[in-house]
Amino acid sequence: MTMTDTQTAPLTDDVIVGLDGGILSVSLNRPSKKNAITDAMYEAVAGALQRARTDKAVRVVLIRGEGENLSAGNDIGDFTAIAMGMKPPEDLAVHRVLKGLADLDKPLVIAVKGFAVGIGTTMLLNADLVFVAEDAKLSTPFVNLALAPEAASSLLMPMRIGHARAFSMFALGEVIDGRTAAAWGLANAALPADQVDAAALKACQALVQRPINALRATKRLMRDAEVLWAIMQRENAAFGAQLTTPEAREAFMAFAERRPPDFTKLD
Ligand code: COA
Repeated sequence: MTMTDTQTAPLTDDVIVGLDGGILSVSLNRPSKKNAITDAMYEAVAGALQRARTDKAVRVVLIRGEGENLSAGNDIGDFTAIAMGMKPPEDLAVHRVLKGLADLDKPLVIAVKGFAVGIGTTMLLNADLVFVAEDAKLSTPFVNLALAPEAASSLLMPMRIGHARAFSMFALGEVIDGRTAAAWGLANAALPADQVDAAALKACQALVQRPINALRATKRLMRDAEVLWAIMQRENAAFGAQLTTPEAREAFMAFAERRPPDFTKLD
């Protein structure tokens, strides 16, 4: 599915934003890097979420990935730039996406195929309906990267799947497939990969028929934006502090050099 929006000039071709029939679709479009998300892509997503809040024509938001994956998570090159002191850890573009997710009171539907790493999985906790491919691979390997959870996942993940499973995903980098994600309550349904986009679109088409104010009131009652943003800010501080540590530098160097990290010599 591709939709274009002639009203808004794109910030980057790596995110395609389109409005069609009340559905604002946000497609991550960097398939050669498994849709790893750069700062420019975060800015584009943040802009789309901001528009969703203020544009009456938008009744539901759909996030999906072009190609075979939702997203391999934050671009590790961007993390490396911070770890090496080339960029400050504050005021990251991702923070504007997180604020947008916390504040969004219109329905958010996410379609998950292939890899959903880091924010590719934690964004699901901020969605209202999730459709996942049976063979999708979901992971939140924050500790393997010497980082800490984000997107309010430190609160929402244990609430959703229980502390033990959440800790295993955060600290051991446990990868779960789509069937498991649905069984654990991270998704509404696990489907064959070629049916996921259609199922998500069908759900969006059903939602645009619903009364918008009742939808927004329901979502606001179910999710407290202020609490979520407070948790996200606490996480952002921990995440930002970790980004500049020697252990994070080791993790990012190891990724670039395609070798396992060695944290054993670091205090
Ligand atoms: N940041 C930057 N580049 C990434 C990336 C990321 N998060 N994830 C994948 N890529 C790039 C790879 O470097 C590779 O680029 P290249 O072809 O120029 O070498 C390309 O995308 C394909 O990835 P590759 O690792 O070859 O695919 P794979 O199928 O062997 O493994 C993953 C897929 C997702 C398991 C693996 O890419 C990975 O672990 N990525 C990092 C995930 C991560 O830790 N994200 C941050 C979470 S906070």
